[in-house]
Amino acid sequence: MKFLIINGVNLNLTGKREKGVYGTATLEELNARIAAYCEENGDEAEFYQSNIEGELVNKLHEANEGKKFDGILLNAGAFTHYSYALRDAIAAIDVPVAEVHISNVHAREDFRNVSVISEVCKGTVCGFGAGSYLAAIVGLKTQLN
Ligand code: DQA
Repeated sequence: MKFLIINGVNLNLTGKREKGVYGTATLEELNARIAAYCEENGDEAEFYQSNIEGELVNKLHEANEGKKFDGILLNAGAFTHYSYALRDAIAAIDVPVAEVHISNVHAREDFRNVSVISEVCKGTVCGFGAGSYLAAIVGLKTQLN
């Protein structure tokens, strides 16, 4: 299967910002781990990161064209908590989307308890660092098979 892993706002600073919350692995290292995991399991992964809400929306639309991907992993960063534009984009496409977070958003500030995208995602995994992405792949594959 082929997965698109989308990381949103500020995720490019993973491994460099708030290391106590997000760990010390950089986004490149995180992506390498996901790519290796996919390869081990006969899957493929493509990666995209943007800090711009509209670019993330465009990427979701584009991913839906030509049925290039079986599933999408989306860590929308802070957009998770208030972007109705991303929510509508997820609802508009046919490719199943899994919501992913590195940190346990439920054990943090109150505003992080709210996700406006959860309702239109297949499921959510949070709190396991790189493991959140790997678990989301397992979840999507289980549903798709
Ligand atoms: C995050 C959690 C969000 O609340 C936060 O704004 C992020 C990262 C995570 O991966 O834990 O930027 O999505």
